[in-house]
Amino acid sequence: MANRPLRLGMAGGGPGSFIGPVHRMAARLDGRFELVAGALSRSIEKSREQAARWGIASDRVYADPDAMFAAESARADGIEAVAITTPNSSHRDIAAAALRAGIAVISDKPMTATLDEAEDLASIVAETGTPFALTYTYTGYAMLREARARISAGAIGTVRKVVAEYPQGWLSEAIESTNAQAGWRTDPARAGAGGAIGDIGVHAFQMIEYVTGLRATALCADLPRVVPGRMLDDDCNILLRLGDVPGVLMASQISTGERNGVRIRAYGERGGLEWTHETPDQLILREPDNRLCILHAGAPGLCDAALAATRLPPGHPEGLIEAFATLYSDFADAISGAGGILDGRLPGITDGLRGMRFIDLAVTSNASRRWISFEGEIL
Ligand SMILES: NC(=O)c1ccc[n+]([C@@H]2O[C@H](COP(=O)([O-])OP(=O)(O)OC[C@H]3O[C@@H](n4cnc5c(N)ncnc54)[C@H](O)[C@@H]3O)[C@@H](O)[C@H]2O)c1
Repeated sequence: MANRPLRLGMAGGGPGSFIGPVHRMAARLDGRFELVAGALSRSIEKSREQAARWGIASDRVYADPDAMFAAESARADGIEAVAITTPNSSHRDIAAAALRAGIAVISDKPMTATLDEAEDLASIVAETGTPFALTYTYTGYAMLREARARISAGAIGTVRKVVAEYPQGWLSEAIESTNAQAGWRTDPARAGAGGAIGDIGVHAFQMIEYVTGLRATALCADLPRVVPGRMLDDDCNILLRLGDVPGVLMASQISTGERNGVRIRAYGERGGLEWTHETPDQLILREPDNRLCILHAGAPGLCDAALAATRLPPGHPEGLIEAFATLYSDFADAISGAGGILDGRLPGITDGLRGMRFIDLAVTSNASRRWISFEGEIL
Protein backbone atom coordinates (compact mmCIF):
# COMPACT_ATOMS: atom_id res chain seq x y z
CA MET A 1 0.00 0.00 0.00
CA ALA A 2 1.40 3.43 -0.96
CA ASN A 3 2.36 5.36 2.17
CA ARG A 4 1.84 8.68 0.43
CA PRO A 5 -1.27 10.11 -1.20
CA LEU A 6 -1.69 9.02 -4.82
CA ARG A 7 -1.62 11.82 -7.40
CA LEU A 8 -5.06 12.45 -8.88
CA GLY A 9 -6.22 14.49 -11.88
CA MET A 10 -9.82 15.44 -12.57
CA ALA A 11 -11.90 15.81 -15.73
CA GLY A 12 -14.95 18.01 -15.05
CA GLY A 13 -15.65 19.72 -11.75
CA GLY A 14 -15.68 23.31 -13.04
CA PRO A 15 -17.30 26.26 -11.23
CA GLY A 16 -20.91 25.50 -10.27
CA SER A 17 -20.70 21.80 -11.06
CA PHE A 18 -22.27 19.26 -8.71
CA ILE A 19 -20.28 16.08 -8.35
CA GLY A 20 -16.68 17.12 -9.17
CA PRO A 21 -16.34 19.04 -5.87
CA VAL A 22 -17.71 15.98 -4.02
CA HIS A 23 -15.04 13.79 -5.64
CA ARG A 24 -12.37 16.30 -4.58
CA MET A 25 -13.49 16.36 -0.95
CA ALA A 26 -13.89 12.57 -0.82
CA ALA A 27 -10.55 11.82 -2.49
CA ARG A 28 -8.74 13.84 0.18
CA LEU A 29 -10.76 12.81 3.24
CA ASP A 30 -8.75 9.73 4.21
CA GLY A 31 -5.45 11.07 2.89
CA ARG A 32 -5.27 8.52 0.08
CA PHE A 33 -5.19 11.04 -2.83
CA GLU A 34 -4.11 14.59 -3.56
CA LEU A 35 -5.67 16.50 -6.45
CA VAL A 36 -2.75 17.91 -8.47
CA ALA A 37 -4.04 18.41 -12.03
CA GLY A 38 -7.24 19.09 -13.89
CA ALA A 39 -9.13 19.68 -17.11
CA LEU A 40 -12.02 20.93 -15.05
CA SER A 41 -14.20 22.53 -17.72
CA ARG A 42 -14.51 22.85 -21.47
CA SER A 43 -13.52 26.49 -20.93
CA ILE A 44 -9.85 26.92 -19.93
CA GLU A 45 -10.69 30.20 -18.15
CA LYS A 46 -13.27 28.45 -15.96
CA SER A 47 -10.90 25.57 -15.41
CA ARG A 48 -8.18 28.00 -14.24
CA GLU A 49 -10.67 29.78 -11.97
CA GLN A 50 -11.62 26.53 -10.22
CA ALA A 51 -8.01 25.28 -10.11
CA ALA A 52 -6.91 28.48 -8.36
CA ARG A 53 -9.68 28.04 -5.80
CA TRP A 54 -8.60 24.43 -5.24
CA GLY A 55 -4.86 25.09 -5.05
CA ILE A 56 -3.94 23.22 -8.26
CA ALA A 57 -0.70 24.62 -9.74
CA SER A 58 -1.38 26.77 -12.81
CA ASP A 59 0.97 24.69 -15.02
CA ARG A 60 -1.17 21.62 -14.31
CA VAL A 61 -4.43 23.09 -15.59
CA TYR A 62 -5.21 21.75 -19.06
CA ALA A 63 -7.48 22.69 -21.96
CA ASP A 64 -8.87 19.16 -22.20
CA PRO A 65 -8.37 15.68 -20.71
CA ASP A 66 -6.20 14.47 -23.64
CA ALA A 67 -3.75 17.33 -23.05
CA MET A 68 -3.72 16.44 -19.35
CA PHE A 69 -2.90 12.77 -20.00
CA ALA A 70 -0.13 13.65 -22.50
CA ALA A 71 1.57 16.22 -20.28
CA GLU A 72 1.14 14.32 -17.02
CA SER A 73 2.47 11.08 -18.54
CA ALA A 74 5.66 12.95 -19.43
CA ARG A 75 6.26 14.10 -15.83
CA ALA A 76 8.11 12.05 -13.23
CA ASP A 77 5.48 13.16 -10.73
CA GLY A 78 2.53 12.79 -13.14
CA ILE A 79 -0.97 11.76 -12.09
CA GLU A 80 -1.54 8.10 -11.23
CA ALA A 81 -5.33 8.26 -11.44
CA VAL A 82 -8.08 10.41 -12.90
CA ALA A 83 -11.59 11.17 -11.65
CA ILE A 84 -14.13 11.53 -14.49
CA THR A 85 -16.92 13.88 -13.41
CA THR A 86 -18.13 15.19 -16.78
CA PRO A 87 -21.56 14.59 -18.37
CA ASN A 88 -22.15 11.03 -19.63
CA SER A 89 -21.40 11.47 -23.35
CA SER A 90 -17.70 12.17 -22.68
CA HIS A 91 -17.04 9.33 -20.18
CA ARG A 92 -16.00 6.70 -22.71
CA ASP A 93 -13.41 8.77 -24.59
CA ILE A 94 -11.84 10.23 -21.46
CA ALA A 95 -11.67 6.83 -19.75
CA ALA A 96 -10.24 5.13 -22.85
CA ALA A 97 -7.48 7.76 -23.21
CA ALA A 98 -6.55 7.49 -19.52
CA LEU A 99 -6.48 3.68 -19.51
CA ARG A 100 -4.27 3.65 -22.61
CA ALA A 101 -1.89 6.06 -20.85
CA GLY A 102 -1.74 3.65 -17.89
CA ILE A 103 -3.65 6.05 -15.64
CA ALA A 104 -6.18 4.40 -13.29
CA VAL A 105 -9.77 5.61 -13.70
CA ILE A 106 -12.48 6.37 -11.19
CA SER A 107 -15.50 7.46 -13.21
CA ASP A 108 -18.93 8.61 -12.29
CA LYS A 109 -21.97 6.73 -13.54
CA PRO A 110 -23.58 5.90 -15.89
CA MET A 111 -20.36 4.36 -17.20
CA THR A 112 -20.92 5.57 -20.78
CA ALA A 113 -23.71 7.00 -22.91
CA THR A 114 -24.54 3.75 -24.74
CA LEU A 115 -24.14 -0.02 -24.39
CA ASP A 116 -21.83 -0.12 -27.44
CA GLU A 117 -19.49 2.34 -25.75
CA ALA A 118 -19.61 0.28 -22.54
CA GLU A 119 -18.63 -2.91 -24.37
CA ASP A 120 -15.80 -1.07 -26.08
CA LEU A 121 -14.55 0.30 -22.76
CA ALA A 122 -14.71 -3.14 -21.17
CA SER A 123 -12.40 -4.47 -23.86
CA ILE A 124 -9.94 -1.61 -23.21
CA VAL A 125 -9.96 -2.35 -19.45
CA ALA A 126 -9.30 -6.03 -20.21
CA GLU A 127 -6.53 -5.20 -22.70
CA THR A 128 -4.71 -2.63 -20.53
CA GLY A 129 -5.28 -4.19 -17.09
CA THR A 130 -5.46 -0.66 -15.65
CA PRO A 131 -7.74 -0.31 -12.57
CA PHE A 132 -11.20 1.06 -13.39
CA ALA A 133 -13.77 1.95 -10.71
CA LEU A 134 -17.24 3.47 -10.79
CA THR A 135 -18.70 5.74 -8.11
CA TYR A 136 -22.02 4.10 -7.44
CA THR A 137 -22.35 6.33 -4.39
CA TYR A 138 -24.61 4.22 -2.20
CA THR A 139 -22.22 1.26 -2.14
CA GLY A 140 -19.91 3.40 -0.01
CA TYR A 141 -22.38 3.57 2.88
CA ALA A 142 -21.54 1.33 5.85
CA MET A 143 -25.09 0.13 6.42
CA LEU A 144 -25.64 -0.80 2.77
CA ARG A 145 -22.50 -2.93 3.07
CA GLU A 146 -23.93 -4.41 6.27
CA ALA A 147 -27.15 -5.28 4.39
CA ARG A 148 -25.13 -7.01 1.68
CA ALA A 149 -23.08 -8.99 4.23
CA ARG A 150 -26.19 -10.04 6.21
CA ILE A 151 -28.02 -11.27 3.11
CA SER A 152 -24.93 -13.12 1.97
CA ALA A 153 -24.66 -14.78 5.42
CA GLY A 154 -28.31 -15.90 5.21
CA ALA A 155 -29.72 -13.51 7.86
CA ILE A 156 -33.12 -13.27 6.12
CA GLY A 157 -32.97 -16.68 4.45
CA THR A 158 -33.42 -17.06 0.72
CA VAL A 159 -34.37 -13.70 -0.81
CA ARG A 160 -37.90 -13.81 -2.23
CA LYS A 161 -38.58 -10.18 -3.23
CA VAL A 162 -36.65 -6.96 -3.69
CA VAL A 163 -37.93 -3.40 -4.08
CA ALA A 164 -35.77 -0.37 -4.90
CA GLU A 165 -37.04 3.19 -5.10
CA TYR A 166 -35.33 6.38 -6.18
CA PRO A 167 -37.77 9.30 -6.31
CA GLN A 168 -36.66 12.88 -6.98
CA GLY A 169 -38.86 15.87 -7.79
CA TRP A 170 -36.44 18.43 -9.22
CA LEU A 171 -37.42 17.80 -12.89
CA SER A 172 -41.17 18.10 -12.21
CA GLU A 173 -41.18 21.17 -14.42
CA ALA A 174 -39.37 21.91 -17.70
CA ILE A 175 -36.39 23.73 -16.17
CA GLU A 176 -33.90 22.48 -18.77
CA SER A 177 -33.54 25.79 -20.63
CA THR A 178 -32.43 27.61 -17.46
CA ASN A 179 -30.67 24.90 -15.43
CA ALA A 180 -27.42 23.56 -16.93
CA GLN A 181 -27.57 20.28 -15.03
CA ALA A 182 -31.15 19.67 -16.16
CA GLY A 183 -30.14 20.76 -19.68
CA TRP A 184 -27.62 17.99 -20.39
CA ARG A 185 -29.59 15.35 -18.46
CA THR A 186 -32.63 15.78 -20.73
CA ASP A 187 -30.60 15.91 -23.97
CA PRO A 188 -29.95 12.50 -25.57
CA ALA A 189 -26.77 13.81 -27.24
CA ARG A 190 -25.19 14.48 -23.83
CA ALA A 191 -27.03 12.11 -21.45
CA GLY A 192 -27.15 9.03 -23.68
CA ALA A 193 -29.90 6.49 -24.18
CA GLY A 194 -31.61 7.04 -20.83
CA GLY A 195 -33.03 10.05 -18.99
CA ALA A 196 -34.06 9.34 -15.40
CA ILE A 197 -33.18 5.69 -15.92
CA GLY A 198 -29.57 6.56 -16.79
CA ASP A 199 -29.26 9.26 -14.16
CA ILE A 200 -30.77 7.52 -11.13
CA GLY A 201 -32.49 4.28 -12.19
CA VAL A 202 -29.06 2.79 -12.79
CA HIS A 203 -28.12 3.49 -9.14
CA ALA A 204 -31.23 1.59 -7.97
CA PHE A 205 -30.45 -1.30 -10.30
CA GLN A 206 -26.84 -1.56 -9.14
CA MET A 207 -27.96 -1.42 -5.48
CA ILE A 208 -30.35 -4.33 -6.06
CA GLU A 209 -27.60 -6.54 -7.45
CA TYR A 210 -24.98 -5.32 -4.93
CA VAL A 211 -27.16 -5.89 -1.84
CA THR A 212 -28.86 -9.16 -2.80
CA GLY A 213 -25.96 -10.74 -4.69
CA LEU A 214 -28.57 -11.79 -7.28
CA ARG A 215 -28.33 -11.01 -11.00
CA ALA A 216 -31.25 -9.69 -13.02
CA THR A 217 -32.33 -12.02 -15.81
CA ALA A 218 -35.31 -10.18 -17.36
CA LEU A 219 -37.23 -6.93 -17.15
CA CYS A 220 -40.35 -5.15 -18.32
CA ALA A 221 -40.09 -1.36 -18.37
CA ASP A 222 -42.48 1.54 -18.68
CA LEU A 223 -40.47 4.75 -19.16
CA PRO A 224 -42.83 7.68 -19.64
CA ARG A 225 -41.89 11.23 -20.53
CA VAL A 226 -44.25 12.97 -18.16
CA VAL A 227 -43.26 16.60 -18.71
CA PRO A 228 -44.37 17.63 -22.22
CA GLY A 229 -41.56 18.08 -24.74
CA ARG A 230 -39.02 15.83 -22.98
CA MET A 231 -36.90 13.74 -25.37
CA LEU A 232 -35.95 11.19 -22.68
CA ASP A 233 -37.81 9.41 -19.89
CA ASP A 234 -38.31 11.33 -16.66
CA ASP A 235 -40.05 8.47 -14.80
CA CYS A 236 -39.22 4.73 -14.67
CA ASN A 237 -41.41 1.84 -13.58
CA ILE A 238 -39.73 -1.51 -13.99
CA LEU A 239 -40.60 -5.09 -13.12
CA LEU A 240 -37.56 -7.30 -12.74
CA ARG A 241 -36.85 -10.99 -12.52
CA LEU A 242 -33.65 -12.06 -10.78
CA GLY A 243 -33.90 -15.73 -11.68
CA ASP A 244 -37.00 -16.80 -9.75
CA VAL A 245 -36.96 -13.72 -7.53
CA PRO A 246 -39.32 -10.86 -8.45
CA GLY A 247 -38.18 -7.27 -8.14
CA VAL A 248 -39.70 -3.82 -8.51
CA LEU A 249 -37.71 -0.72 -9.41
CA MET A 250 -39.15 2.78 -9.36
CA ALA A 251 -37.00 5.78 -10.23
CA SER A 252 -38.49 9.16 -10.98
CA GLN A 253 -37.47 12.78 -11.39
CA ILE A 254 -41.03 14.10 -11.50
CA SER A 255 -42.03 12.90 -8.00
CA THR A 256 -43.00 16.37 -6.81
CA GLY A 257 -41.58 17.29 -3.42
CA GLU A 258 -39.16 14.38 -3.22
CA ARG A 259 -35.47 15.20 -2.69
CA ASN A 260 -33.28 12.11 -3.03
CA GLY A 261 -35.39 9.30 -1.55
CA VAL A 262 -33.22 6.27 -2.26
CA ARG A 263 -34.57 3.17 -0.51
CA ILE A 264 -34.07 -0.56 -0.86
CA ARG A 265 -36.02 -3.36 0.77
CA ALA A 266 -35.40 -7.09 0.52
CA TYR A 267 -37.64 -9.81 1.89
CA GLY A 268 -36.51 -13.37 2.55
CA GLU A 269 -38.00 -16.55 3.99
CA ARG A 270 -36.99 -15.57 7.51
CA GLY A 271 -37.11 -11.77 7.59
CA GLY A 272 -36.79 -8.47 5.79
CA LEU A 273 -34.26 -5.72 5.60
CA GLU A 274 -34.54 -2.03 4.70
CA TRP A 275 -32.08 0.83 4.08
CA THR A 276 -33.06 4.42 3.35
CA HIS A 277 -30.71 7.18 2.25
CA GLU A 278 -32.54 9.74 4.38
CA THR A 279 -31.38 7.82 7.51
CA PRO A 280 -28.22 6.24 6.10
CA ASP A 281 -26.68 5.24 9.44
CA GLN A 282 -29.55 2.81 10.12
CA LEU A 283 -30.42 -0.63 8.83
CA ILE A 284 -33.86 -1.99 9.71
CA LEU A 285 -34.27 -5.73 10.15
CA ARG A 286 -37.84 -7.08 10.11
CA GLU A 287 -38.69 -10.24 12.04
CA PRO A 288 -41.45 -12.64 10.90
CA ASP A 289 -43.50 -11.66 14.00
CA ASN A 290 -43.38 -7.98 12.92
CA ARG A 291 -40.74 -6.89 15.42
CA LEU A 292 -38.19 -4.39 14.13
CA CYS A 293 -34.53 -4.33 15.00
CA ILE A 294 -32.61 -1.17 14.09
CA LEU A 295 -28.86 -1.45 13.65
CA HIS A 296 -26.69 1.68 13.76
CA ALA A 297 -23.44 2.47 11.97
CA GLY A 298 -20.40 2.12 14.20
CA ALA A 299 -22.14 -0.19 16.68
CA PRO A 300 -20.42 -3.38 17.82
CA GLY A 301 -21.35 -6.57 16.01
CA LEU A 302 -21.43 -5.15 12.51
CA CYS A 303 -19.45 -6.79 9.73
CA ASP A 304 -15.85 -5.79 8.97
CA ALA A 305 -16.87 -4.10 5.70
CA ALA A 306 -19.35 -1.85 7.55
CA LEU A 307 -16.91 -1.04 10.35
CA ALA A 308 -14.17 -0.24 7.82
CA ALA A 309 -16.56 2.20 6.11
CA THR A 310 -17.28 4.05 9.38
CA ARG A 311 -15.05 6.77 10.79
CA LEU A 312 -17.01 7.94 13.84
CA PRO A 313 -18.63 6.33 16.92
CA PRO A 314 -22.39 5.57 16.80
CA GLY A 315 -24.60 8.66 16.86
CA HIS A 316 -22.14 10.87 14.96
CA PRO A 317 -23.65 11.14 11.48
CA GLU A 318 -21.64 10.48 8.36
CA GLY A 319 -23.05 11.13 4.89
CA LEU A 320 -22.49 11.37 1.18
CA ILE A 321 -18.95 12.73 1.27
CA GLU A 322 -17.83 9.98 3.63
CA ALA A 323 -19.54 7.32 1.49
CA PHE A 324 -17.69 8.68 -1.53
CA ALA A 325 -14.46 8.73 0.50
CA THR A 326 -14.89 5.04 1.25
CA LEU A 327 -15.05 4.40 -2.50
CA TYR A 328 -11.84 6.42 -2.93
CA SER A 329 -10.12 4.38 -0.19
CA ASP A 330 -11.18 1.19 -1.95
CA PHE A 331 -9.87 2.66 -5.20
CA ALA A 332 -6.49 3.42 -3.59
CA ASP A 333 -6.42 -0.20 -2.40
CA ALA A 334 -7.20 -1.37 -5.93
CA ILE A 335 -4.34 0.69 -7.39
CA SER A 336 -1.89 -0.64 -4.84
CA GLY A 337 -3.07 -4.22 -5.38
CA ALA A 338 -4.75 -4.54 -1.97
CA GLY A 339 -8.22 -5.55 -3.26
CA GLY A 340 -11.19 -3.27 -3.77
CA ILE A 341 -12.60 -3.89 -7.23
CA LEU A 342 -11.81 -7.55 -7.65
CA ASP A 343 -13.24 -8.62 -4.29
CA GLY A 344 -16.51 -6.83 -5.14
CA ARG A 345 -16.31 -4.09 -2.49
CA LEU A 346 -15.92 -1.38 -5.10
CA PRO A 347 -17.98 -1.31 -8.28
CA GLY A 348 -15.93 -1.66 -11.45
CA ILE A 349 -16.24 -2.43 -15.15
CA THR A 350 -18.58 -5.40 -14.62
CA ASP A 351 -21.08 -3.26 -12.69
CA GLY A 352 -20.71 -0.56 -15.35
CA LEU A 353 -21.51 -3.01 -18.15
CA ARG A 354 -24.47 -4.45 -16.19
CA GLY A 355 -25.81 -0.91 -15.69
CA MET A 356 -25.52 0.00 -19.36
CA ARG A 357 -27.15 -3.29 -20.39
CA PHE A 358 -29.98 -2.54 -17.93
CA ILE A 359 -30.56 0.91 -19.48
CA ASP A 360 -30.41 -0.44 -23.02
CA LEU A 361 -32.82 -3.31 -22.32
CA ALA A 362 -35.24 -1.06 -20.45
CA VAL A 363 -35.38 1.36 -23.38
CA THR A 364 -36.01 -1.57 -25.76
CA SER A 365 -38.65 -3.08 -23.47
CA ASN A 366 -40.42 0.28 -23.16
CA ALA A 367 -40.49 0.71 -26.95
CA SER A 368 -41.76 -2.82 -27.61
CA ARG A 369 -44.07 -2.93 -24.54
CA ARG A 370 -42.68 -6.43 -23.84
CA TRP A 371 -40.62 -8.34 -21.29
CA ILE A 372 -37.02 -8.81 -22.41
CA SER A 373 -34.30 -11.14 -21.14
CA PHE A 374 -30.80 -9.95 -20.23
CA GLU A 375 -29.61 -11.87 -23.31
CA GLY A 376 -31.72 -9.42 -25.35
CA GLU A 377 -34.51 -11.87 -26.24
CA ILE A 378 -38.02 -10.39 -26.40
CA LEU A 379 -40.19 -12.66 -24.24
N1 LIG B 1 -22.60 9.32 -8.15
C1 LIG B 1 -23.53 10.22 -7.97
O1 LIG B 1 -24.25 10.16 -6.99
C2 LIG B 1 -23.69 11.33 -8.97
C3 LIG B 1 -24.35 12.52 -8.62
C4 LIG B 1 -24.41 13.54 -9.58
C5 LIG B 1 -23.88 13.36 -10.84
N2 LIG B 1 -23.29 12.19 -11.15
C6 LIG B 1 -22.69 11.98 -12.49
O2 LIG B 1 -21.55 12.82 -12.57
C7 LIG B 1 -21.40 13.36 -13.89
C8 LIG B 1 -21.43 14.89 -13.81
O3 LIG B 1 -22.66 15.32 -13.28
P1 LIG B 1 -22.82 16.80 -12.62
O4 LIG B 1 -24.19 16.89 -12.11
O5 LIG B 1 -21.69 17.05 -11.69
O6 LIG B 1 -22.66 17.70 -13.93
P2 LIG B 1 -22.39 19.26 -13.97
O7 LIG B 1 -23.06 19.75 -15.21
O8 LIG B 1 -22.73 19.89 -12.65
O9 LIG B 1 -20.80 19.37 -14.13
C9 LIG B 1 -20.10 18.87 -15.24
C10 LIG B 1 -18.75 19.58 -15.33
O10 LIG B 1 -17.99 18.96 -16.36
C11 LIG B 1 -17.41 19.99 -17.19
N3 LIG B 1 -17.18 19.39 -18.51
C12 LIG B 1 -18.09 19.05 -19.45
N4 LIG B 1 -17.49 18.44 -20.48
C13 LIG B 1 -16.16 18.42 -20.18
C14 LIG B 1 -15.01 17.93 -20.87
N5 LIG B 1 -15.12 17.31 -22.05
N6 LIG B 1 -13.81 18.08 -20.27
C15 LIG B 1 -13.69 18.67 -19.07
N7 LIG B 1 -14.74 19.16 -18.39
C16 LIG B 1 -15.96 19.03 -18.93
C17 LIG B 1 -18.44 21.09 -17.16
O11 LIG B 1 -17.86 22.32 -17.53
C18 LIG B 1 -18.85 21.06 -15.68
O12 LIG B 1 -17.92 21.77 -14.90
C19 LIG B 1 -22.55 12.75 -14.69
O13 LIG B 1 -22.11 11.62 -15.38
C20 LIG B 1 -23.58 12.36 -13.64
O14 LIG B 1 -24.40 11.27 -14.04
C21 LIG B 1 -23.18 11.18 -10.24
